[in-house]
Amino acid sequence: MSQPETAAIGDAAETMEAPWLSAGQSPTERSLLFALPKGRLARDSLTFLKRAGLPLPTDTASRKLVLPAADGSIGFVMAKPRDVPTYVEHGAADLGICGLDVVRETDRAVYEPLLLPFGHCRLCLAGPTDRSPAQVDQSVDRPESVSDAAPPFPEVTGMPLRYMSQPRIATEFPRLTRQFFAARGVNAEIIALGGSVELGPILGLADLIVDIVQTGETLRLNGLVEIRTILQSQAVLLVNRTSYQLKATAINGIIERMRRLTS
Ligand code: PRP
Repeated sequence: MSQPETAAIGDAAETMEAPWLSAGQSPTERSLLFALPKGRLARDSLTFLKRAGLPLPTDTASRKLVLPAADGSIGFVMAKPRDVPTYVEHGAADLGICGLDVVRETDRAVYEPLLLPFGHCRLCLAGPTDRSPAQVDQSVDRPESVSDAAPPFPEVTGMPLRYMSQPRIATEFPRLTRQFFAARGVNAEIIALGGSVELGPILGLADLIVDIVQTGETLRLNGLVEIRTILQSQAVLLVNRTSYQLKATAINGIIERMRRLTS
């Protein structure tokens, strides 16, 4: 069984009791609970907390999901990135870190006091390199700009977006994808997938995809190229609205420590 991504980042302190988890306690009665993302943002999140001089979760090499800081001041949950805004909105966690892409897709009612200096990527519309120009309406909606980080494929980045027939778009971001096409008057069929959306065009399930691009390697390896950047993303700090009022001193202290690293 592979080690979790967070192994070797945290302090090797002993695991302590987690008093904030006692049943029946309200958010005002317990210590801060911080939801951190598993996956590709995990390591950078922990490194950032450490640089900010904040307590780190103990026992990060284990597969436990709830981890206390060595001093007991903060509890951490290692959550699926998609669930972080949900935990924070409902007050199950006071604070959270996840990508701006996930925040915009999930559209939860949370405070976003700070963009964090890691996890930079972009949400892109992408398609097969061999897409025939005959399949698109050449007269409409030429792209206004493409990210500087996008590969230089002028013949592809110049591709119009409005298909003559309804395009099928595979994505893990159905809400943002629907908004993007609706704003352009395109009647797209959105095919929501849970991951590996690059398979959509390969298997004939979809014409295009909307997905996260970081290095561009996954697109390249699967014969796809970027057509448009829909959203520039990076990590963001989330705060529960009620916690922000009731635990203002502690939370503002954390924000201030983080802010020093972002300015
Ligand atoms: C994301 C995204 C792409 C890949 C892009 O997937 O969905 O597949 O990263 O990264 P790259 O541009 O550096 O190649 P992730 O690994 O997060 O897993 P997922 O497919 O399950 O979303």
